[in-house]
Amino acid sequence: MLIPKHVGFIMDGNGRWATQRGLPRSEGHRAGIQHILTIIDICHNLGVEVVSAYVWSTENWERSQAEVQALMYSIQILGPQLAQKLHDRQVRIIHSGSRQGLSKAVLKVIDDAVQLTKDNGSRILNLAFNYGGRAELLQAVRRAIAQQTSPETITEKTIADSLYTVGLPDVDLIIRSGGDKRMSNFLLWQSAHAWLYFAENYWPALSQHDIEQAIKSFDQGLVRRQNDI
Ligand code: IPE
Ligand code: IPE
Ligand code: MG
Repeated sequence: MLIPKHVGFIMDGNGRWATQRGLPRSEGHRAGIQHILTIIDICHNLGVEVVSAYVWSTENWERSQAEVQALMYSIQILGPQLAQKLHDRQVRIIHSGSRQGLSKAVLKVIDDAVQLTKDNGSRILNLAFNYGGRAELLQAVRRAIAQQTSPETITEKTIADSLYTVGLPDVDLIIRSGGDKRMSNFLLWQSAHAWLYFAENYWPALSQHDIEQAIKSFDQGLVRRQNDI
């Protein structure tokens, strides 16, 4: 079976997971952040090297102030422990997203995690945090114009090299938990050829079985494509 090199997770369903258990939504976010490590371990055991996780979108600021604060608080409390555990596993952490709007404390958690793990090897966790695909592309275009690149000299590589994910392979497989079938502005450029898989389980309950099913589906999709050509 072919194993994808880069899997992107749209970690949806934290709130519903908590509500279903009679807990406040903030508990769902806490469980969701902790679940990243479980998913990373599963992915690595299956041979996936690069994982992208969509933690917070540029649209998520529209949520209630209480929910935003609860999630940012959880990042501050759980982030450093998570970073250390990932470092123990020799995972390199990358941040995709804007720094704008994030508090100093949250930025410190991200910067420390990136700094701590910067010399680790080929296993990568790309955290899409305060991230939007359109905003990322807009920034890439602005950068190209600022460098006074003449229109004809702008290539796909110019754009790809201006993205947060510069140097990473394209996303092979996207797995969205929580049952909704939407991209929600996630890695739009990088996922141009990705296989999409939607799991019913909420993010904190996304299981090894779900991931195995997604990879099986990815593999079957690839076989079909090769037979077509
Ligand atoms: C996804 O879970 C995590 C974030 C967007 C922070 P949600 O918070 O969207 O949970 P649901 O989809 O409302 O259950
Ligand atoms: C997607 O979940 C974004 C993240 C997982 C960070 P949302 O719950 O925010 O997405 P929509 O509202 O369904 O697009
Ligand atoms: Mg949601």
